[in-house]
Amino acid sequence: MNYDVKDIGLAPKGRLRIEYAAQDMPVLGMIRHRFEKEKPLAGVTLAACLHVTTETANLAITLKAGGANVGLCASNPLSTQDDVAAALAKDYCIPTFAIKGEDNDTYYRHINAVLDMRPNITMDDGADTVGVIHSQRQDLIPNIIGGTEETTTGVIRLRSMERDGVLKYPIVAVNDADTKHFFDNRYGTGQSTIDGILRATNKLLAGSVFVVGGYGWCGKGLGMRAKGMGARVIVTEVKPLRAIEAVMDGFEVMPMAEAARIADVFCTVTGDVHVIRKEHFEVMKDGAIVSNSGHFNVEIDIPALEAMAESRRVIRDFVEEFLLPDRRRIYLLGEGRLINLAAAEGHPASVMDMSFANQALCAEYMFKHAKDLERKVYPVPREIDEQIAALKLETMGVKIDTLTPEQVKYLESWEEGT
Ligand code: ADE
Repeated sequence: MNYDVKDIGLAPKGRLRIEYAAQDMPVLGMIRHRFEKEKPLAGVTLAACLHVTTETANLAITLKAGGANVGLCASNPLSTQDDVAAALAKDYCIPTFAIKGEDNDTYYRHINAVLDMRPNITMDDGADTVGVIHSQRQDLIPNIIGGTEETTTGVIRLRSMERDGVLKYPIVAVNDADTKHFFDNRYGTGQSTIDGILRATNKLLAGSVFVVGGYGWCGKGLGMRAKGMGARVIVTEVKPLRAIEAVMDGFEVMPMAEAARIADVFCTVTGDVHVIRKEHFEVMKDGAIVSNSGHFNVEIDIPALEAMAESRRVIRDFVEEFLLPDRRRIYLLGEGRLINLAAAEGHPASVMDMSFANQALCAEYMFKHAKDLERKVYPVPREIDEQIAALKLETMGVKIDTLTPEQVKYLESWEEGT
């Protein structure tokens, strides 16, 4: 079996951590047990391009239990947990191609290694396998029945492919399931981003001024958690509706150009390019910390910072100091890559449980229904979303009410008024 990992000797540590994460992924565990019996993915080759973490390992093991021939590569050069990659290759016999800190060439060599397995289904976090297939490996397309996509940024890319008429196979937008983005994007990103910033910097957030760039689901979670740590939180936005929401959630809202002058810590979660750029670096305080938790490392204009700087040095792991000619120092975290996975471990397992239950069930759905689907981006079927919500509640030991027959009838009627 082919694989490329940093050190296969790390497998024992990775295996223990995979088992530890499994304890917090009971919904995925139930799906795995059913998959073991029913083998709904028998005969499928599945190329997964995801952050190689303990949670992803449990998903890959589940897909394999369902009969799939799974290959795994990283969806970001800095998010791989090397011990997990080693355990997947050695103990679970899953061809894994991922090394933390790999350069761009290695990153794409790893994607191509997984694509060499000639997949029938692609599973992306950021749409990079879809991108490579459509631009360089179109020979693989006849073999592919469909794909799934994990993240907001990937779904945006895929929708623009659909709009331009170039998408060659159907994709289920897992990100858009309620049991995904309400929880993973909000509570997962909220906690893991703070975790990444703190592990990298060991700064006290209480009393600091913290800028959240973008008030989508990730921004809402991050703002909420930064506030909870005692920071004075400023939100920057371009959409009026979201800006009102941030104001009414109790945050200060202002343009980045103003926030740049007063903040101690910045974190972007917009999905767009150059949210923090030269004009902002020019007015930042000495010691400002700049980070990103959006999917791609484009939200901070790093080339502009590099061009402005007189010198630079890595002052501690995941913290690079840029010295500007006027002696101000700006600290860039994790090369501007998603700080929650670069400096910490990504979202905790209990929230990834729902995200990856969606992935497993959508892979099964795609295998069963691809022939009825067009070359479009599809929502997660409502039944899957509701089933996952019900199972998650059950595993949390939370019971809820059911409608009485009278209430059902009332909701279905239209005659009754004031
Ligand atoms: N995305 C964010 N957190 C993650 C995790 N723990 N595993 C896989 N993908 C993630």
